[in-house]
Amino acid sequence: MQAPIVPTPAYIPYSDVLSLIRDILSTSITDHDSPVHKQVVRVRGWIRSVRAQQQVHFIALNDGSCFENLQLVLSHENNNASIDFLALKTGVAIEVEGKLHKSPGAKQHIELHVQVIHYLSPHDSEYPLQKKRHSFEMTRMIPHLRVRTNTFATITRIRSALYRSLNHYLHSQGYHWINVPAITTNDCEGAGDLFSVGFDINSSKRHFFGKPAYLSVSGQLNAESYACGMSRVYSFAPIFRADNSNTRKHLSEFWMLEPEGAWLSYHDCISLAENLIKYAVSTLLEHNHTDLELFDTYVHKGIIAELGYFVQTPFKRMEYTEVLKMLKGNENNKNKTHTMPPLEWGMDLATEHEKALMTHTNNVPVAIMNYPKEIKPFYMYHNDDERTVRGIDIIFPRVGELVGGSEREYRLKELRMALTEKKLREEELSWYVDLRRYGTVPHSGFGLGFERLIQFVTGMANIRDCIAFPRAPQEALC
Ligand code: 4AD
Ligand code: MG
Repeated sequence: MQAPIVPTPAYIPYSDVLSLIRDILSTSITDHDSPVHKQVVRVRGWIRSVRAQQQVHFIALNDGSCFENLQLVLSHENNNASIDFLALKTGVAIEVEGKLHKSPGAKQHIELHVQVIHYLSPHDSEYPLQKKRHSFEMTRMIPHLRVRTNTFATITRIRSALYRSLNHYLHSQGYHWINVPAITTNDCEGAGDLFSVGFDINSSKRHFFGKPAYLSVSGQLNAESYACGMSRVYSFAPIFRADNSNTRKHLSEFWMLEPEGAWLSYHDCISLAENLIKYAVSTLLEHNHTDLELFDTYVHKGIIAELGYFVQTPFKRMEYTEVLKMLKGNENNKNKTHTMPPLEWGMDLATEHEKALMTHTNNVPVAIMNYPKEIKPFYMYHNDDERTVRGIDIIFPRVGELVGGSEREYRLKELRMALTEKKLREEELSWYVDLRRYGTVPHSGFGLGFERLIQFVTGMANIRDCIAFPRAPQEALC
């Protein structure tokens, strides 16, 4: 006879093992009166709030494993008189042991009746986070503590979940993760916004690496070398930009996901970006719904419905020239909703133009294709019209450009011409030019700004609140 299948409990209820609150709260209660499990459960976490009544203290305990707190019930009668009830303060770390019971309260289905409590940290009455809402500006000043607030713990879980699903999707499509160097000797984007490194302070003439070196503004050029050998690769790494953009969507250090594929066209790139982002957002809607509800309630009302609409609706694709015509038409419209800076063919879109474009499409993302070559870097494939390149930017509601990419110039002669036009020295990029000599094939890729994706899914207004320790001009706390 086959052994019966015993369902594994969601948490391990042995008193010598710690349980996560996430696992405890997913336990179902069948028997109303008796403890859920006979065994004692042990949990550690940080006190979020304390409510004292005559015979009992209620504590909301959080360990970061999920949005919800575990309700602890400390009955004065059952507990040792030596418990220092005055030390039960927001922010204090404790370990508790006790049994789980069905909760009579409406807010939770389960609660822990505490038998033993240990203080794991001393308490300080000056703890800056209390049981009230703090402004994002205030918590930005304490990046080392803000993860103990609901919003930042939730952003952290969302960030981690997105990281996992983006990686998962690319692996499922045959993309290999590769590492790209953080220290480079090239300026991929040619925008000149580089942080210098390796300057030997003992000698003003010597560079540590033998030549000027910088923190990377993009892993693309290195990823291209691996795509032309592994077919499908991607990097996911920190990126550094020294431009002095003090806006709500620019960071000096951010994470960029950069897929690169041999034999991909720029149209394939748009499809890959669309499928990848929609997969990540729908996975989030499915598995992190409670986390998203916080943003729907307190940060951006209706965000869950917006994300649902987003995953259902195909992206639009428009030529740069077509977008320009549309925006210029809008300029002359008496009922226009945005005042926009002037826009002529050959200029890049400003934030106001991106907003007007999103109004035009009713917030459906637009992949803009084929930009004037003057406003794009040297490496983009040159069209036959000799004035545009196969660059793509994907514009999203609220965050603007979330994805920037292109089909790459894989032809030796055209690449050399582009380097000359942009006044770049071939010797500096000889290895990159080499890739066009040996086994060169059409290939494309893009960069996705990870923090802008987090901004898009949470509705957070400022990108500084979408990364743990933000770096921006004049800002590098911790
Ligand atoms: O458009 P960008 O500059 O593209 C590149 O660097 C290409 N080499 C990528 C590639 O093709 N592999 O940057 C890509 C994305 C932008 O669309 C934006 O989402 C994000 O990176 N980004 C920033 N995010 C935060 N702060 C900044 N300062 C950013 N600059 C770009
Ligand atoms: Mg760009």
